[in-house]
Amino acid sequence: MLKVLFVASEAHPLIKTGGLGDVAGSLPAALQAQGCEVRLLLPGYRAAIERAGPVTTVARIASPQLAGHIHLLECRLPDTEVTAWLADYGPAYDRAGGPYLDPLGHPWEDNAERFALLAHVAAAIALGQAGVSWQPDVVHANDWQTGLTPVFMMNAAQRPATVFTIHNLAYQGLFDQAMLARLGLPESLWTPQALEFHGQLSFIKGGLVFCDMLSTVSPTYAREIQTPDLGFGLDGLLRYRTDRLVGILNGIDDKEWDPAHDPQISRNYDFNRIREKLTNKRALQVEYGLTPDPRAPLIGMVSRLVRQKGVDLALASVPYLLQGPAQLVFLGLGDRDYENTLQALAKRHPGRVAARIGYDEAAAHRIESGADMFLMPSRFEPCGLNQLYSLRYGTVPIVRRVGGLADTVVDATEENQRAATATGIVFDGDSPAALVAALARALSLYRDPNRWVSLMVRGMQQDFSWRASAQRYIDLYHSARQLHH
Ligand code: ADP
Ligand code: GLC
Repeated sequence: MLKVLFVASEAHPLIKTGGLGDVAGSLPAALQAQGCEVRLLLPGYRAAIERAGPVTTVARIASPQLAGHIHLLECRLPDTEVTAWLADYGPAYDRAGGPYLDPLGHPWEDNAERFALLAHVAAAIALGQAGVSWQPDVVHANDWQTGLTPVFMMNAAQRPATVFTIHNLAYQGLFDQAMLARLGLPESLWTPQALEFHGQLSFIKGGLVFCDMLSTVSPTYAREIQTPDLGFGLDGLLRYRTDRLVGILNGIDDKEWDPAHDPQISRNYDFNRIREKLTNKRALQVEYGLTPDPRAPLIGMVSRLVRQKGVDLALASVPYLLQGPAQLVFLGLGDRDYENTLQALAKRHPGRVAARIGYDEAAAHRIESGADMFLMPSRFEPCGLNQLYSLRYGTVPIVRRVGGLADTVVDATEENQRAATATGIVFDGDSPAALVAALARALSLYRDPNRWVSLMVRGMQQDFSWRASAQRYIDLYHSARQLHH
């Protein structure tokens, strides 16, 4: 049985800020369902430990950089058979605020130390130095927060195979040069061939340079990051390692996101009972003070409010939408400017535009179930999960043709409608005009109930469960093991 140590900085439902949390909260269980034995390693944030329920301490790990020990707390990842380990070190993780940002929204000043610690614990477990009687065949690290994992294992005579998944190349974990020594890393790593990136220490390069195999979360994004446009300065390195890089589409937790059984929505439905969705639409309109009109096209957006997500494009399209009967509901958290603009818009257009600034998992489910359309005009999107949830909930996605959006939504061209493959609206270009044209197409289809319902139903019938992708990860683990031995 293949033993996998899955290392991440967040995992739903213990701690989540975005899609990485969804993936780390669901892929390990899917791997186990296909015969792997997985341990999930997370930082012991205060919020995660509180949510974990009963825990037992299974190891005490020392680090030369730290006073005191790191306690490895064991629990069950809720609603799964997966064993999770929380690296509990109070000075790093026992605080109010998010995993990456302080309560004012600034990155924690000691993020380098906090996530080097996570990598250190992962390496100690992987090398059998943590005092637990379990050792992995493969260590699977995710995003920059775990990038130093293979670096801390580099000099071991024997080590497990290593895999690194890029969920978002835009976040790289860049710190001052002085941090190299502070983290106890050798001077020899200060070269562009290792951890240096334009005069800074790059955590993500640890993963990209030193792991046996690399993956990212969609085939299109795997190609895009090898180009200067979306490579964020790392495209050269990724082209150099192209034979080690694969794109594996994210799956979704199809129990958690299932309109037929979701306890967080007003009325359950599936593609045979699609009219029931209207009950959720009405509930959503009432919840947000929108005019409860069943015929008004209701457009939802749930997103981190950052440039990546094309929030500015969405905002620019509002005047156009307000010329017709459409209604809009936004749920998000992020850049203050976007938050303020959204709130001002909602105030100016009560009954038509609603904005909720905050992070609210249940509210995200209610928007997916109640909206007619879901907006995702992202500038880049490694995979994206919201469009997958939207498809499942019969909420037609309107997306830009990038990354995982291009790989998962089939545009409603005349031809694709005739071929019965269309599932949403896909547009090119990043101008407000391009989005407005896409919205116009969506609204015109919406006025044709037969066409619209067939789009909804086809979306609901797609299979984005983890089954196929979990198998691809297992293949990837085997490749990593072969290359490494
Ligand atoms: P990303 O990881 O880039 O933020 P994804 O589409 O992969 O984008 O995943 C976003 C996840 O985070 C989804 O599960 C989405 O519902 C959730 N999410 C984002 N913002 C919020 C919010 N404000 N409230 C609740 N859930 C949110
Ligand atoms: C990142 C990406 C998103 C992806 C998620 C999970 O946050 O921005 O596109 O779905 O990771 O892989």
